[in-house]
Amino acid sequence: MTNKKIILTGDRPTGQLHIGHFVGSLQNRVKLQNSGDYEAYIMIADLQALTDNARDPEKIRHSLTQVALDYLAVGIDPAKSTILVQSQIPALSELTMFYLNLVTVSRLERNPTVKSEIKQKKFGQSVPAGFFTYPVSQAADITAFKATTVPVGEDQEPMLEQTREIVRSFNNIYGDVLVEPEGYFPEEGLGRIPGLDGNAKMSKSLGNAIYLADDADTIQKKVMSMYTDPTHVHVEDPGHVEGNTVFTYLDIFDDDKAKVAELKAEYEHGGLGDVKIKRYLNDVLQAVLTPIRERREHYAEDMAGVYKILQNGSEKANEVANQTLKEVRDAVGVNYFG
Ligand code: TRP
Repeated sequence: MTNKKIILTGDRPTGQLHIGHFVGSLQNRVKLQNSGDYEAYIMIADLQALTDNARDPEKIRHSLTQVALDYLAVGIDPAKSTILVQSQIPALSELTMFYLNLVTVSRLERNPTVKSEIKQKKFGQSVPAGFFTYPVSQAADITAFKATTVPVGEDQEPMLEQTREIVRSFNNIYGDVLVEPEGYFPEEGLGRIPGLDGNAKMSKSLGNAIYLADDADTIQKKVMSMYTDPTHVHVEDPGHVEGNTVFTYLDIFDDDKAKVAELKAEYEHGGLGDVKIKRYLNDVLQAVLTPIRERREHYAEDMAGVYKILQNGSEKANEVANQTLKEVRDAVGVNYFG
């Protein structure tokens, strides 16, 4: 037994990861991984991605490799963290079957994240049952590894709440087997990055994202197209910093806080043009993203090696998840034949 805390977290492979994922969660994972205080499992949740993409499996297959590259690019290190593929861990599906009995339909209907996703995806009356119940499968993901700590964006808190409820029910009925997890969220104000167009959410479907794989030209074009302050028409006009996406990004990405404060003052006073401030932001972003992109390109040269990393990680994850499943089966009493 180790006293290390255990991390389990993951992403749905439905596309490339962007700088919203980076500030919302990836950065924290790398920090926790490198602290040495945790045993970390990072999961590519392909089964969860299929819950609303059942008719497009090719997208999931392709995105799996993209997400794996993004992980490696930001510094998730297979020597320190176990990277696994959800569909390759059969115990997760079996755990889900046990947990589904501990959750009511009305409780699932109240999950605010699922509720808003159902609206946003325009399912109408045709919500796939797998999608509706994915918080339960996510509880299986987390508990299979006895995770204590789940580094995710704020939108995942309802999943953690539901997981804790399932853990409590299970342990109450069958005995103490499962561990209650806690979320680990980004620092106040740093976790959510708006889209390039000023929309509160950065997402692929809104077409307002900078991807970790974007090349230098693409990043520059995107930055130059960013939403700023519509009332700031002439360079000499006083501008607004509040709600100005360029400054929001600088707050998040520029470590030189004194410089940012100076630029803000100049912008508010009037005399600092949008082009100039965007060029400055471009330099800041390029400095952050260039090493990430280069590492990504390096790993992409050896995709067989990337698959090997996923396979090894999944093998290790299977050992852990199978052990938990055995404890669960024993606790429930479905161990008839010894
Ligand atoms: N629901 C998460 C997302 O959409 C992905 C995910 C699946 C996950 N299983 C998980 C996150 C377990 C944390 C823990 O990003």
